[in-house]
Order: sequence, then C-alpha cells, then structure tokens
Amino acid sequence: MSLTEQPAAPGPEPDGDAAAEQLRDRISADSLTTRRDYLRIVATVSGGLAVGGVGVAAGILHRHGDSEKLPEAKKVTDELAPGQSVAFRFPGDEDRAVAVRLTDGSLVGYSAVCTHLACAVLWREDRGADGELYCPCHEGVFDARTGEVTAGPPPRPLPRIFLTEEADGSVWAVGTARSGEPAKDALCRQFGDSRPEMSLRLGCPGADRAAATERRRT
Ligand code: FES
Repeated sequence: MSLTEQPAAPGPEPDGDAAAEQLRDRISADSLTTRRDYLRIVATVSGGLAVGGVGVAAGILHRHGDSEKLPEAKKVTDELAPGQSVAFRFPGDEDRAVAVRLTDGSLVGYSAVCTHLACAVLWREDRGADGELYCPCHEGVFDARTGEVTAGPPPRPLPRIFLTEEADGSVWAVGTARSGEPAKDALCRQFGDSRPEMSLRLGCPGADRAAATERRRT
C-alpha cells in the first residue's frame, strides 16, 4: 500500500468534554461568511420573501444607484481576505450590500437585494472559480465578477457598489451604480457639477465646461 493509500490511524474516542471542544473548534473554523449566510437564509426564508414581494410591487423600496449625488464614503471593513465576503449597508442604513474579495484578489461590491423580488442575496464561495452570488428564494444566481444574472428569474444584474482599498487594508464603499449602468456613466452622473476635477479626469461629457466655470469662479 502506498503512503497516500494508508488509512489514518484511528485516534482515541473523545470523551464528552473533548467532543464538545472539537465541535466548538469546528464552528470557530467556519468562515464568518458561512455563519452570516446561514443567518441571512433563515431571515430570508422566514420573512424576506413576503416583505420583499410587497415592497417591490408597491414601488416603495429604495433602489441602489438612485442617488444623483455621490454618497458619503463609508468604511466597510478593516480588511477582507481572498474568498471572504462581508455584509454592510450602503449608501443608506437600509440598503443591504455585500463586498467580496475574489480569490485572485479583486474586490467587488453589489447591492445584496435581489432584482427579482428583493430577497437577500448570499455569497457562495465554493461555486466555480469565482464563487457566485445566490438568491435562495427562487434560485437566482449572479456572476460574482460582473453581477450579471447567470440563472433563475432575476430580470436585471445586481447594482454595483464601488469599493476602494486604503493602504492599511481597510475597504471603503464610495459610490453606486444602477443595475447594468456602466461605471463611468454612474460616476459621471454622481460627480456632476459638484466634483468638476474628478469629472474632467474621467472624461465625463460636459466636464470641460464645468471645469472652466469652476476656474472662473475661483
Ligand atoms: Fe426571486 Fe431572488 S427574489 S430569485
């Protein structure tokens, strides 16, 4: 028998205390994301479906990217390791969002509100090379790298949240896009006349005029 075929030597059976200790260790070893996702599934299944459906039907839910102004930047987390996610609220306190560090180090952020009937969207790391964003209500699936719909009934991609990373590793949310809106269009719309220098750097339409007006004013 080769080394790799050898069965592991059986260890002593754990007594009650040792077994409880092992169980605690296993729970601690689970990622924060896994435990958080479990809680969100419970919340979604127990109430999110009905509430979300009513909210969307009545048109009362705020949608990410609705703001015409750049929201105030918000710290999401002190650090985010590859393969991990963190739930947060942005731009408002009611706006559920999720930030994910893909295994190649890319940082992506999305609204965590499903574009079908507004259930909570979960991060599943163990699906494909990049993982996926998954809605348990009707099996909706979104591409983790783009937010595009890859399966199920959601009619639109997840709205994007723009994230930045500081030198100390902290992750910040700095802006939003509407569902399917290109990043440049979203930023130009929100920079508007209030940040003419940024609009100019991005090459936003009309930025030359706004910058010239600003120069005359100062
Ligand atoms: Fe139906 Fe998300 S609410 S798939």
